[in-house]
This record gives sequence, C-alpha cells and structure tokens, in this order.
Amino acid sequence: MSGAPGDVLNADDSLYDELYDVRSEAIENGNFLEMDPYPLMNAARDRAPVHKGFLREVLGLPFYHRHRMTVEGRQGYAVLGYDLAEKTFRDNVRLSNRVYHMNPGDFKMLGILEMDSPEHFAHRKAAQSLFIKPRAVGMWRDRWINEIVGAIVGNLQAKDRAELNMTLCARVPVHTITAAVGLRGEQALAFRKALVNSLGTRSGRAAQAEGMATVDRMVTEQIELRRKAPGEDIISWLLAAEIELPDEGPRTLNDVEIVTFCRLLLLAGGGTTWRQMGIVLYALLVDRSRWEDVKADRSLVEPAIQESMRWNPNNPMFSRLAVQDTEIGGMEIPAGSVVDICLAAANRDPPRWDNPDVYDLHRPFRQHIGFGVGAHMCLGRNVAESEMYVAINALMDHFPDLRIDPDQPAPYLTGGLEQRGISGLHVLLK
Ligand code: HEM
Repeated sequence: MSGAPGDVLNADDSLYDELYDVRSEAIENGNFLEMDPYPLMNAARDRAPVHKGFLREVLGLPFYHRHRMTVEGRQGYAVLGYDLAEKTFRDNVRLSNRVYHMNPGDFKMLGILEMDSPEHFAHRKAAQSLFIKPRAVGMWRDRWINEIVGAIVGNLQAKDRAELNMTLCARVPVHTITAAVGLRGEQALAFRKALVNSLGTRSGRAAQAEGMATVDRMVTEQIELRRKAPGEDIISWLLAAEIELPDEGPRTLNDVEIVTFCRLLLLAGGGTTWRQMGIVLYALLVDRSRWEDVKADRSLVEPAIQESMRWNPNNPMFSRLAVQDTEIGGMEIPAGSVVDICLAAANRDPPRWDNPDVYDLHRPFRQHIGFGVGAHMCLGRNVAESEMYVAINALMDHFPDLRIDPDQPAPYLTGGLEQRGISGLHVLLK
C-alpha cells in the first residue's frame, strides 16, 4: 500500500512547478547551459581520455562545481574515456567520496555517498538487501509502485492531453520513496522542498537551516512511531538492521544514522528517476517508431530504459578526491586533487559502442556506467528501473496511441552539465 490516496497523488500542487522544472532548477543552481554539452564532451574525450583541469575547464564552460566547498583551491582532473572512468570509479582506496562532504564538522549530510570504507561498506551492507532486484520487482512494486502508477495513469484516462513531466515523471518517484520511508503521501512535496532547501544550493542560509530542521523532525517523528509500531517500510527495516564497524561489536543503527540514511534516499530517489523517466519517454516518442517497437514487444522495455541511461544519463558527472598520489591513464594525480568522472562522455566512447550518439533500442547490450560502478554504484538502481518499467508499461497499455502534442512546445533536453532532463512532455493521450 502506498498510503497515498489517488487525490493526493494527482493533486494539482504548485510545488510541482517549483520543484520539478529541469530548466529553472539549473538556473537556480547557477549551472544552466543553453547548449547541448555532448559535442564538447565527445571532442574532449576524443582528444584524450583524461585531462588536467576540472571538467568544466576542459570543456571551456564557466566554472561551477556542485561540491564547491571541497574543490576550492584544489587542482582538478577530468576523466572522459570509458575504461579509465570505470577504473576511476572502482578505485575507492586512493580516490575518496569525501569530495561530497559539505560542512566543516563530521556531520554527514549525504550519508553513505560521502563515506569511505570500512564505514561505507558497513552502512551500505545494513540496507543493501532492501534494494536487490527481487525486492525491487516484488516488494517495491507490490507495496508502492503499482498502486502509485495505477492511480496516476488512471487519472489520465479522463483526459485527451497531458504534460507527462509534471503529471507522471515527477510524481511516481517522489511518492514511491516517500511511501517506502513511511511518510504520508500529502507530506511528500513539503518534505522534498525542505530537503532541497537543506542542501543550500537553491536557498539562502535561513531556508537551509529551516529545511534541515524540518527534514530531521519529520524523519525523527517516523522513527519514534515505528519504534513503537513497526510497519512495512524502510525505517522499520533500518531500526531492525545490524551494523558492524571494525572497532565496535555488532549494534543497531542510532537515530542520527537512520535520519541521515533516509535523507539520502529521499534525495537520490526523488530527483534522478524523475529526470530519467522523462528522458526515456522523450527518446521513445521523439521517434515514434521506437514507441511502436516497444509496445509490440515488451521485452524491449528494459533495453529502452538501459539505453536511455547510456545515451543520456541524467547525472552526467560525479567526482572523487585523491587521498593518495595516484595515476590515471598515465596522468600523475597528486593527493589532494579532485577528479571529475564524466560518465556521459564515457557512455558514448566509440570503441565500446557503434554510433554512440544514437539512441538505439536494438543495440547489443554492453554495460554502461549511468548508475556509476564499484563500491558506490547506485543503491536504488533496481527501484528506479522498476518505477520506469511499470510507468512505461502502464502508458502503453492504456494509451497505445500516445504521441507528442504538435500544438504544444516541442520537448528538448535541458539542464546543466551536472543534471539533465526534459523541458516538458506535452502529449496527446488518445
Ligand atoms: C535513474 C535514476 C537514478 C540514477 C541515474 C542514479 C545514479 C546514481 C549514481 C551514478 C550513483 C553513484 C554516485 C557516485 O559513485 O559518486 C548513485 C548512488 C546512489 N543512489 Fe542512485 N540513481 C538513481 C536512482 C536512485 C534511487 C531511486 C535511489 C533510492 C531508492 C537511489 C539511491 C542511491 C544511493 C543511496 C546512492 C549512494 C550509494 C553509495 O554511496 O554506496 N538512486 N546513484
């Protein structure tokens, strides 16, 4: 059970416009790009798979770094070739995720994403089994995704036209992860707004502090409730989970650790899948023969999703901090440097894929790194795939003639170099 009735899932809340517009998100972040960055990324990768300079410097774009507090005063390097990008992701000894650490103290805003092993390994292990494929396809669909998609797609049946970015792509992920954590459906958007504010990239200091306090309060309330009456949700699971760090015996997670973990899940689960669902639907509709192919052969739904992750991963770059001197592809990287990994360029590396700039449903599958790789590979990837899978199938079942609305602005890919998605997706449903 999602816990959110259909009217909540379909509510016409102006917060969707505020929180789920790829273009204004990038403008507010200060990293909006007017142009398609792929020609620049491809050219840089083809010149050399690794460069001295932050990725934006190498591409000749204005400086912006999502993790500016940790990159200031450091030398940057950019990895763009597939083999080296994979190797860089996998080296979690010399290259650290502390690059995501945003504050002076030890407080971890982004939980496991900013931890290194053995701490990272222990915390990830405590939650990992919740996210394995059989659970994402079984439990996650049965308890949350099917009902949420069903209510949203059911609501569309009364209409002839829709804007899918806001009515579907934004709603499915935020309601899925909110319900899975145990928060009520009507709290989903207010919670997401507080969460986005708490990161400080789109808000002032006062809004950041207030956002942090709201997130902590809402999750802590849930922990107290679940401690008294465990349910079928992530918090109840984490309360029961055991963690084993090297210098401690096995123990349960404390409240701060659970809040931190939920904060990351709600953040990672609510934004990325929204953008990627828009990208895969865009790819299927902009050349409608693809929609027809997938509709006729549903075994192509999974390849359609995977190919979208290769062709246009919604987060084109991630970074690492060198904590030891190292070398990548013959380039010396001194300790203290920041390494930007451009997985978008790596995913289009010509030795690995023919015609890599083309979205091709039928290409033989080769592993891409749209979900990262190595110790920090996306924990929620099976859940994200499940959400997209159920949503695409439901649209095809109910609206076989679905197509881009020619009387509305045509969709296009937009955003920054660090996060990308579609401008909007106006469709004719019937
Ligand atoms: C299409 C959607 C998604 C994409 C493209 C995506 C991408 C990624 C990538 C590339 C990383 C690795 C970052 C790094 O190595 O620095 C990551 C990590 C992570 N993702 Fe996702 N993600 C998606 C959806 C989700 C969802 C739905 C959830 C939660 C349900 C989630 C939870 C996480 C977590 C917890 C981590 C940190 C893992 C760790 O540090 O060990 N993601 N994601």
